[in-house]
Amino acid sequence: MAITERVFSGVQPTGNLHLGNYLGAIVNFVKLQETHNCVYCVVDMHAITVPVTVWGGPDELRRNTREVTAAFIASGIDPAKQIIFNQSQVSGHAELAWVFNCVARLGWLNRMTQFKEKAGKDRENASVGLYDYPVLMASDILLYRATHVPVGEDQKQHLELCRDIAQKFNNDFSASIAAQGHDGNYFPMPEPVITGAATRVMSLRDGTKKMSKSDASDNSRINLTDDADTIAQKIRRAKTDPEPLPSEEDGLKTRPEADNLVGIYSALADRPKSEVLREFGGAQFSGFKTSLADLAVEKLAPIAAEMKRLTGDPGYIDQVLTDGGDRARAIANETMNAVRDIMGFIHKR
Ligand code: TRP
Repeated sequence: MAITERVFSGVQPTGNLHLGNYLGAIVNFVKLQETHNCVYCVVDMHAITVPVTVWGGPDELRRNTREVTAAFIASGIDPAKQIIFNQSQVSGHAELAWVFNCVARLGWLNRMTQFKEKAGKDRENASVGLYDYPVLMASDILLYRATHVPVGEDQKQHLELCRDIAQKFNNDFSASIAAQGHDGNYFPMPEPVITGAATRVMSLRDGTKKMSKSDASDNSRINLTDDADTIAQKIRRAKTDPEPLPSEEDGLKTRPEADNLVGIYSALADRPKSEVLREFGGAQFSGFKTSLADLAVEKLAPIAAEMKRLTGDPGYIDQVLTDGGDRARAIANETMNAVRDIMGFIHKR
């Protein structure tokens, strides 16, 4: 079977979705559905790689899985046209991960910077799952033979690992792949799709720190569930410097807070930063903040309201996930049967 273009991406159900998740990921997911078949996965199996005290246990996991699903739908992803599901429903993710565990090398995983960051000093106490996280991620993508993966900068290294795994698999089993009648590269080399002005949304209290769900100050982030008043208030309180806005992008270089707010405006308005600065250059922050607050409320408040409505109907959300799971499984089963044949695993046809 020839490789066709397909988008895959995953979001962890870790709670407190914020503007960074929206502008960095979900907005792009919405755009890509115009041009591609898309599979959007709530990666619950990745969520449990941290200690249970961190991921919060079964009730939290269910709640957070439904919240991400609601955010997808409320933001405009059409669950009838695209596939939205949670990872653990399709056993192929774990099965393919085992095969890839035997393809990936320890040396490759030892280079992963995210593991080093997340494991911290006490590496002996990190779960085996956290170490293996990038292999499961490669399985997510390649189980659907996806060609395009919208991700943030921080996931680029994991995507490179995914390509290395695909390449080594294709290479190690090239004879068997050919014998099974597939063209040379059974697995595609998935490409990152990194777009949007604000792929990195920073904290509203400190323009040098990423906006984060775990920041102690709720004023540092705009949650996707914040109502209009809260959104406007957080923007009014956002940290700035005393200078008026510059008229050129160069003038933002040493001004992280100004840069962040202009970036957020630009992303929400879907207009380049240069254009935003042509409009607001020379203006004081107070006026710009009013315009930004209006824009943010216009774009985000309806999403918050729709998320609230959707999470109030968990039966509907679960139906979307199980229906998506069925459609995902159909694609996954094809890949897994091919992989079984390629590996020499005897199976029922
Ligand atoms: N690791 C990704 C993140 O934390 C989530 C993820 C899991 C993912 N599997 C994926 C992203 C596959 C893209 C493709 O953001």
